[in-house]
Amino acid sequence: MTRMTDPDTPARSTSGSTSVPAVDPAAFRSVLGRFATGVTVVTTVSTEGKPVGVTASSFNTLSLDPPLILWSLALKAPSLSSYRSSGRFAVNILGIDQAAVALQFARPSNDKFRGIATMPGLGDVPLIADAIAHLECEVVRRDPGGDHELFIGRVLRAAAADRQPLIYVTGKFGQFEMFA
Ligand SMILES: Cc1cc2nc3c(=O)[nH]c(=O)nc-3n(C[C@H](O)[C@H](O)[C@H](O)COP(=O)(O)O)c2cc1C
Repeated sequence: MTRMTDPDTPARSTSGSTSVPAVDPAAFRSVLGRFATGVTVVTTVSTEGKPVGVTASSFNTLSLDPPLILWSLALKAPSLSSYRSSGRFAVNILGIDQAAVALQFARPSNDKFRGIATMPGLGDVPLIADAIAHLECEVVRRDPGGDHELFIGRVLRAAAADRQPLIYVTGKFGQFEMFA
């Protein structure tokens, strides 16, 4: 029998009568780093009307019908309150030549959009003009997820350009290579 554990309790997992030690944090990070992802900048707008953006690789698909996507943001991220209050966000999927953009939005700053061309999206959420795809979303659900908060968005508008994506794996940026 497998017992369910509270996902917010960092502790020991149990399987039958055998108690398994909590996963080693370094091993956990090392495993997660081997899962190659694309790179996004998730944007929103603050209550004062200021553009807000965060580099996020936690983006993923959730549902096709209805069209739902998800991502998660660290509870310690200074921008968290803006995503909570806005009720909207946009996922900007970065292209192969945008590693510098990813790094710019991965550092806390009051001037994250310096040198970044944007265009206004739904609800005045900024869209990064040179991104290879955009998903404009309304927040339908927020859930606690340990040291992160999970955002589930309903996609209101989607657009894509035919360009190569930026890839992130083992802490490095790279590019995707087809087998044939
Ligand atoms: C490739 C990459 C992916 C990242 N993905 C996430 C993510 O999914 N969630 C998150 O909370 N932080 C993620 N980060 C870290 C945030 O981008 C970083 O903490 C940023 O400073 C948060 O923005 P803020 O300080 O304006 O709140 C990622 C960083 C990099 C470089």
